[in-house]
Amino acid sequence: MLNKIGIIGGGAIGGVLVQECAVRKLARNVGFVDPAPFVDPNAPADKQAVANKQSIAGGKALDIREGLPIINSDINFVTSKDYSALKGAELVISTAGVPRKARPDGTFPTREELLKTNLSISKSVAYGIKEYCPDAIIINVANPLDAIVFTLDEILKPSKKKIMGMAGALDSTRYRYFVAEAANVSVDNVSAMVLGGHGPTMVPIRSSCRLAGIPVEKFLPSEKLDAIEKRTRDAGGEVVGLLGVGSAFVSTAWAVLEMAEAIIYDKRKIIPTCVYLDGQYGVNGLFVGVPVILGKNGIEEIIELDLTPAEKVLLAKSAEAVRETCEEAHTMLKSL
Ligand code: 2OP
Repeated sequence: MLNKIGIIGGGAIGGVLVQECAVRKLARNVGFVDPAPFVDPNAPADKQAVANKQSIAGGKALDIREGLPIINSDINFVTSKDYSALKGAELVISTAGVPRKARPDGTFPTREELLKTNLSISKSVAYGIKEYCPDAIIINVANPLDAIVFTLDEILKPSKKKIMGMAGALDSTRYRYFVAEAANVSVDNVSAMVLGGHGPTMVPIRSSCRLAGIPVEKFLPSEKLDAIEKRTRDAGGEVVGLLGVGSAFVSTAWAVLEMAEAIIYDKRKIIPTCVYLDGQYGVNGLFVGVPVILGKNGIEEIIELDLTPAEKVLLAKSAEAVRETCEEAHTMLKSL
């Protein structure tokens, strides 16, 4: 159990995260930050007074606190509309940013199209972390995932072991689920990894997909696997298209928690994670999803898989796509 975990963002993902922190007893204290509802400085004074008193983080935390006796959980919550609730957190999970939402015509933006808005939010997140918990391990969830991690790193310059993004855990659980469903076996039997950027170029690694240790090709024909891998790449959008009002949040939160628990309990668990690459997989100076061992220090080790030649090409293409978004973010950041 940690002394303090910080959760930034009280939207759908942050809401599940704080709830699970209480249920799973992950820390003695949860610092929960969300600036909403905003106070409009041009609104009449009485309206401003009402908005000043309201707090998404405060309301969600109070709701959970009042239920703690039922789940026998003695977790303390501290909430704020600024970043002060993060003070002293050892692990911070940032979900701050707008999610993808379906447009009236049913189409929806790419994760990359969220860049400008989420970049400016992430800038304030970085300064909040710098002020209140500069030594925390940071897991980012906001999109475009890889470019936001790159930006947080650019502003905060923490140890590269302590800054990472959650994408591979979610993309991999999706791949595993689709394979289990198609092969008609338990999800417990399927291990698989998705590497690369968290976008349409992500790379499901068929060569390491196993069902109870047996190569996936024993169970499913290659055309079926092609279709599953395409569905995996599009899986976030499939949920956005169905929900209409936002993006996947339960599996997303569970995926972050898989990483958080690996760190909190020093599990040394291998999880594909968006981390800084310094030559591994032929990538330099970028945050890209690869398998790592997560433990009490954050990223304990980066694992280099023996990919097939085709997978190597796809991973290089995905890293290139990440580089383009990061370059755009780097330039945009200067004007924000
Ligand atoms: C997704 O893939 C939210 O990026 C997240 O659904």
